[in-house]
Amino acid sequence: MSSATDAPDATELPPTLRWRDDALVLLDQTRLPAIETLTVRTVAELVSAIRRLVVRGAPALGVAGAFGVVLARREGIDPEVIASARPTAVNLRRGVERAAAAADPLAEARAVLAEDVASCHAIGDRGAALLTELCGDRPLSLHTHCNAGALACVEWGTALGVVRSLHAAGRVSLVVADETRPLLQGSRITAVELAAIGVAHRVVVDGAAGSVIARGLVDAVVVGADRIAANGDVANKIGTYPLALAAARAGIPFVVAAPETTVDPGTASGAEIEIEERDPAEVVVGFDAWNPAFDVTPADLVTAIVTDTRVWRP
Ligand code: MRU
Repeated sequence: MSSATDAPDATELPPTLRWRDDALVLLDQTRLPAIETLTVRTVAELVSAIRRLVVRGAPALGVAGAFGVVLARREGIDPEVIASARPTAVNLRRGVERAAAAADPLAEARAVLAEDVASCHAIGDRGAALLTELCGDRPLSLHTHCNAGALACVEWGTALGVVRSLHAAGRVSLVVADETRPLLQGSRITAVELAAIGVAHRVVVDGAAGSVIARGLVDAVVVGADRIAANGDVANKIGTYPLALAAARAGIPFVVAAPETTVDPGTASGAEIEIEERDPAEVVVGFDAWNPAFDVTPADLVTAIVTDTRVWRP
């Protein structure tokens, strides 16, 4: 494993990941806003990188998992260890299983990557059209949580893909980004992405989100997803469910933007989704803590799920 550091430059974010010289080069998301890359050459290095959130976000995990199969083949290792590195985002297992079933895992991983790019652009455009339908043809103030942007995917993003598509049409007045406890994906990653594309934004602490919504400061909530059950229940970063409650109380849309690969027909409802439990040391030092990384928003609180192929109102 090797790492490289460049001068931070928010306007030129490197890609989330790329395959170069028979290795997977990751933008190290634990270091943002500093720009560092990490090159992984073994399955053990990839599993460690996934667990430490060097690469994170459901679609990016799917692509990384697919490239991980190339490493696993080279080492003669069962890629299951990659698929199970994090339990909640279904894309990781999907990416691994798809590449593992292919005669040429590298070609398949490249196909997974290309499909992710295409699906994010489709989600962005469809989500922008949906928000226009729901909120009207005016600049919108949008609330988001965690990071569902280019760095959670290969490029463009899902929830931030919707923001990018609206922004391209001059239709974003503000994005309110929760800082996102415990690992600050909002203040370290989403804020960097929004700054890089020139979108006006304000980071708020997670505890402020409900009152921001109640005060009428946002027109809609747009978030990503780690797994969507067959009944439309949505698992996403911890703190998403309270946003859905606040949006319902305020009477504003709560929109989920995710690729079809995040919809898991094999999971009947949110109750079946395994919620990743992380190290208490991420939130407290020397005391006991409960540190769930995700929560489940029930389908009845979801206005719509926008995917690369449809708008689903569960
Ligand atoms: O723990 P993370 O950073 O991997 O969690 C990411 C999220 O919860 C994202 O919102 C989700 O994966 C969607 S990314 C397009």
